[in-house]
Order: sequence, then structure tokens, then C-alpha cells
Amino acid sequence: MQIHVYDTVEQVGRAAALLFAARVTEKPDSVLGLATGSSPLGCYEQLRAWHREGLLDFSKCVSFNLDEYCGLPEAHPCSYHAFMKEHLFDGVNLKTSYLPDGNAPDMTAECRRYDAAIRAAGGIDLQLLGIGRNGHIGFNEPGDRFVYGTHVVDLTPSTIQANRRFFESEDEVPRRAVSLGIGGIMAAKEIVLIAMGEDKAQAVYDAVHGDVTPRVQASVLRAHPHTVFLLDREAAKKI
Ligand code: F6R
Repeated sequence: MQIHVYDTVEQVGRAAALLFAARVTEKPDSVLGLATGSSPLGCYEQLRAWHREGLLDFSKCVSFNLDEYCGLPEAHPCSYHAFMKEHLFDGVNLKTSYLPDGNAPDMTAECRRYDAAIRAAGGIDLQLLGIGRNGHIGFNEPGDRFVYGTHVVDLTPSTIQANRRFFESEDEVPRRAVSLGIGGIMAAKEIVLIAMGEDKAQAVYDAVHGDVTPRVQASVLRAHPHTVFLLDREAAKKI
């Protein structure tokens, strides 16, 4: 695992964008694994800018997002479909972008379909991750095991609390989500995890120095041959 620490949040985002730009330039038909939340915002802003300036062409790229809420309409402003449209998809020219369907009538079939679609696309070349304050990646919450495939998750109180800032009230925050599993994340050829802010410092420490344990799902990344952590000073302060 490589770890790079930057002075500012802006630098973290741009460093992540550099990795995406390099990958897309060297393999124009890359399969990109994408995340939502605050962490990727700077990266997406930079990718949109480089695309606007004619420096980056995503027209042969396909993307798969990590997760989506269950029971929230795609058109809801807090859905991850809406987030991705606003922060990336409308500003670049991805050939196709996929998110899991959190409203599918048969979620088991939807999970299998999503994993099969990633395999059919050739697997993820570069996966972007944030990290939860509880060490989650995607919505793989702390637990007794690592779940391999895409699955439906009951979000923990800590995650519901963390996501509350996007909704009008805590009652509105969905309690369940569909997430790529740890097997799907670990199958990516390369992984870049972004963390900023002091509230991520303990999770980053546990992921980097603690036991490899499903209690801290991000700790599994230590077993991945090509993972890079991009951190600001605050998120790195315990390591
Ligand atoms: C989002 C996701 C989550 C977030 C994590 C950090 O698609 O999978 O694991 O990356 O909760 O969220 P932020 O970046 O908002 O702190």
C-alpha cells in the first residue's frame, strides 16, 4: 500500500484526478469504479475541468458506482444517481455509467446482475473509494465477515448519522443500501482511497496499522497489491 499525504483537501482531490487521468489516457476504454460523498468532489471537479479543456476524453470509458440507497427514487436529489449526474456525468462524456438499482423488485437478482455486468465489462481498472468514520468502504459496514458480492446492507447508526447532512431530517435518510461487496472492490486492478479531515483519522489509522478485520472493512485493502491512500494532514495525523 502506498500512502501520500497532502497539505490541502484540494491537493488530495487533484492527486486522485491525476491517477484517473493517467489511467484513462493510457487505456482509453478503462472501466472506472466510482464513489459518492464529499471525498470525491475535488477529484470530479478536476476531471470535469480537464474534460472541458479538451485534455481528457472518456468516450470509451464505462463506469460502475459502488453503491446506491434502497427505496429512494433515482430522481430524488439525494440519490447517488442524482449526485453522480450533478458532479460528474453531466460534465464529462462517459460512454456508459452504471449504478446499482436500489428499487429493483428482486434485489438478489439485481445484485447478481450488477456483478455480472462488471465482469462482462472486463472488471474495474481503477476504483475510487472514500472511507467511513467506522472504516467502511462502499457500504460494507463493520461486522463479523467480509461479504464478497454486491449485496443489500442495513446501514449502521453511525453511517445514517454521517449521511444525515444531505437530507432534511434524519428520518429521511434511507436505512438500507445496495453496495458492491469486498470481493468486487478487491477485484479492481488498482484502488485509490481518499480521506480528508480529522474525523477520518482513526479509521485511516485502523485501516493502515490495525488488524485486518471485518470490524474495519478498509483494513482488507492491505491485501491488495495496488492500493494508494491519498490523505490530507488531518486524516493522516494518527499514522
Ligand atoms: C460512497 C461510499 C461511502 C463513502 C464514505 C465516505 O459511495 O461508498 O463509503 O465513500 O462514507 O463518505 P464521505 O466522502 O462523504 O466522507
